[in-house]
Amino acid sequence: MIIASAPAKTILFGEHFVVKGCPAIAIALNVRSNVKVSEHGDLSIKVKSLNLGEEMIVDLNGKPVKLSPNLTPYTKIFEMLANYCNLKQAYIEIKSDIPIAAGLGSSASIAVALTAAYSRYLGLSLNLDEISRIAYESEKIVHGKPSGIDNSIATYGGGIVFEKGNIRRINIDKLSEAFIIIANTGVERSTRDAVLKVLRLYDKYESILMHVYEASRNLVNEAIKHIEEGNLRELGELMNINHGLLSAIGVSMLELEELVYIARKAGALGSKITGAGLGGCIIALSTKDSVEKVEKALKAKAKWVLKASLSMDGVRVMEKEH
Ligand code: PMV
Repeated sequence: MIIASAPAKTILFGEHFVVKGCPAIAIALNVRSNVKVSEHGDLSIKVKSLNLGEEMIVDLNGKPVKLSPNLTPYTKIFEMLANYCNLKQAYIEIKSDIPIAAGLGSSASIAVALTAAYSRYLGLSLNLDEISRIAYESEKIVHGKPSGIDNSIATYGGGIVFEKGNIRRINIDKLSEAFIIIANTGVERSTRDAVLKVLRLYDKYESILMHVYEASRNLVNEAIKHIEEGNLRELGELMNINHGLLSAIGVSMLELEELVYIARKAGALGSKITGAGLGGCIIALSTKDSVEKVEKALKAKAKWVLKASLSMDGVRVMEKEH
């Protein structure tokens, strides 16, 4: 039996500004999805999600024979692996601790863990770049035109700076004491709508907003220094400034502001929208001194709250006897 897991991600700085070529920073969280591959009697690949209660069946050419709305995009992975070698029958179970549709990269994490587990089951030894590339193809089916941030973080773990399609890894070892608390507003968001709204505002007020984008670029460069030096206080301050910039480009709303200020009042070092905004989640940065208080305060208002720390580890694979 092969078991693989891969982490969730959150965007720490620079979302939206990244769409027009500014840098953004994403980090891996110690919340993971798990994929287990074992032998299966039939001549097919059966994939089951324990979270969704959905099941799909793929034939040994990588083609779906029983569809499932949320699992079908992963057939791309089998189709691509069929280019390396013959596929083998298998029973694949997916169990994820990452909330779905919350900007935490749940689908990419599953795609990475699935690619790693099933390719090992086939006897292939893919390197991390290949795993990330295959997962990206499956992400394209889920998200249309993803940036590549999610599959990169789920594969490599740690932190990355993403700029104009290029990914550079950064050292997050000195942030091991940090807690990231994620709180969900309960308001459904559409990344696509939020991105279009921001781009329209930019076109209308370019001479003003270009300075906000420039501020975000400088902020991210300053943040990289503080991440590598482990300066949590400064990172909190920069998160607060980043939140202000996101408000300026129109992706905040009352429910997000409430959570942002609840976190700060409870002692967070900083808090901000994460991801697309106009709903979805905020993140707060805390140390062990304030983490319980921040978590409790957010729980009183948010739809759900998740306490995480940063994960240096990306995808992990292990073999187990039955
Ligand atoms: O909320 P998410 O994880 O879908 O993040 C969206 C991030 C944006 O910068 C708003 C869009 C993008 O493609 O980078």
